[in-house]
Amino acid sequence: MRVGYGAASTAGADGVVDHLDPSWLTGDPPWLGLFQRWLGEAVAARIPEPNAMVLGTADAHGIPMTRTVLCKGADPRGIVFFTGYDSAKGRALEANPVASVTFPWIALERQVHFCGAVEKVDPAETAAYWNARPRGSQLSARASAQSEPIESRAALEAQAARVAAEFGDAEPVPVPSQWGGYRLLPWRVEFWQGRADRLHNRAVAEFEGGEWVTRRLQP
Ligand SMILES: Cc1cc2nc3c(=O)[nH]c(=O)nc-3n(C[C@H](O)[C@H](O)[C@H](O)COP(=O)(O)O)c2cc1C
Repeated sequence: MRVGYGAASTAGADGVVDHLDPSWLTGDPPWLGLFQRWLGEAVAARIPEPNAMVLGTADAHGIPMTRTVLCKGADPRGIVFFTGYDSAKGRALEANPVASVTFPWIALERQVHFCGAVEKVDPAETAAYWNARPRGSQLSARASAQSEPIESRAALEAQAARVAAEFGDAEPVPVPSQWGGYRLLPWRVEFWQGRADRLHNRAVAEFEGGEWVTRRLQP
């Protein structure tokens, strides 16, 4: 099904949103500048949750699972997100510390895929992000054994109320031990830009033999 891409399009006078060429992948690492530019353009285009990314993991049996998380950092090392370390994804990453993430910026006819190794961020990095979160989010994170079943909404709310009561209004909420950040350290980053007649542009940067190599891929 072909659908319109709406008012967020940044198409130029020739109707092309953007051209994309592997020569745009420059710098160290070569994916970072273009990724930051496209993320900024997704924000400027008012795409809902522009930093949302679909995280793919594989569990100890190789069974894949995807879910959406928010990108909370991108630097030369990689892409950062925060979650429960004992969640289903946390257990998969413990067993199999590799992952993919996809940014589906459909309104801009763009997507970016990363894949690579995953490691926990330094506890100080987790604490810095935690301390910047609203108190309600901190309390909910402490109250939730993420991915575990619970019998009812009422039971969940009772659990949250018990945790809220543990902390006075002024008392800082400490970082839970089972919560924190992960960084995906990419060895492959692919940029995709939609073009007319499905003759799309794809440019990939891959870390091979100790250096980054860039290529164009067929659509
Ligand atoms: C837009 C959006 C953003 C989300 N961001 C996060 C996030 O940053 N961290 C997180 O743990 N879950 C986030 N979630 C919830 C996850 O998709 C998922 O339900 C949860 O992490 C449990 O996943 P798991 O059971 O596979 O571990 C988000 C969901 C949506 C729809």
